Amino acid sequence: MNTMFYTKILGGVCGSLLILLLVKWGADTYYFPSTGSSYGEEVAAAYAIAVEDDGNTEEVVEVPFSELLAAADVNAGQRKFGKCAACHTIEAGANGIGPSLFEVVGREINSTDFGSYSGNLPAGTWTPEELNAFLINPKTYAPGTSMNFGGFSKDTDRANVIAYLSSL
Ligand code: HEC
Repeated sequence: MNTMFYTKILGGVCGSLLILLLVKWGADTYYFPSTGSSYGEEVAAAYAIAVEDDGNTEEVVEVPFSELLAAADVNAGQRKFGKCAACHTIEAGANGIGPSLFEVVGREINSTDFGSYSGNLPAGTWTPEELNAFLINPKTYAPGTSMNFGGFSKDTDRANVIAYLSSL
């Protein structure tokens, strides 16, 4: 009698579990029909929409140098000029290891009375754009130049220094 009672309870519990399992299986099959994925796995409940790829996945925002220059910080440029001051003065006619940079913006290249130009700077004018190209890496811009300076890799550093030089 007692045994019968427990057997019935056990049977009931087993039966309930079986039904639960069946319901769960049914639900999984219903909700994840295509993948047969089991519960808990992430399945996107959406359609994949084909997006046209213009081949430009990474957007590179290139700010024109003129804009950088317009927004440049003359005081920051003056501080950065400390790197140049080892060889250059900003006084007219006062050359050091390098030629004076007084009014260099708009000046003809190789045009001061500095007696030691290497002859490897190009002919032309020191426009802001030309100075910018030069100061990225002088040795790349003018192979053989005697200006021993590694360059400023940061656009803003170059813009600030050129803005400072323009202000002289
Ligand atoms: C280690 C010394 C040294 C440093 C540092 C240096 N320069 Fe020069 N610079 C020179 C020399 C030397 C020349 C002459 C190059 C040649 O004739 O090839 C020169 C040439 C130049 C010229 C061309 C001048 C002309 O009359 O055509 C400019 C512009 C210039 N430097 C700007 C700068 C700026 C700006 C910095 C700092 C960011 C700087 N230089 C840092 C030594 C230096």
